[in-house]
Amino acid sequence: MKTFKYIIGIALVTLSYNCTSVSEEDLIDNTPPPDFVNFEEDIRVIFENNCWQCHGTTPQFGAQTSLVFYDEVVFGIENNNVIGRISLQPGEPGAMPLTGVRLPQNLIDLIILWEEEGFLESP
Ligand code: HEC
Repeated sequence: MKTFKYIIGIALVTLSYNCTSVSEEDLIDNTPPPDFVNFEEDIRVIFENNCWQCHGTTPQFGAQTSLVFYDEVVFGIENNNVIGRISLQPGEPGAMPLTGVRLPQNLIDLIILWEEEGFLESP
């Protein structure tokens, strides 16, 4: 029994020592923030290079909507099936871009991930 109390004692001392020896550095979280996909850095340029020629601030060549600003692109994804249309194969009815060249799959996946992560606007 004495040995048992002794062990408990040691354990308590060790525990309290550990608690008090936490340095300020241990409390600062140094892990880098997760790199979320965001409109300004990752997404806008995809639309600029592939859609703005028709879906510019003044839509032309028969396109109805602008896909320039953040709100417009989010609206297009939520209400005008942007992801569905860019996922179609060239030649299928409704496929975008209308130029007939499908976006590289990694860019389509990036837009899908952007939606899944909640449409961040900026980093
Ligand atoms: C060469 C011109 C052209 C390009 C480039 C183009 N589109 Fe379109 N887009 C059109 C036309 C014309 C329509 C209307 C006919 C239709 O709905 O298919 C349209 C329609 C759409 C619509 C339905 C809403 C609307 O504005 O009429 C969406 C969504 C769309 N395009 C997405 C895109 C996306 C995303 C890109 C780029 C990846 C893109 N388009 C590139 C010409 C284009």
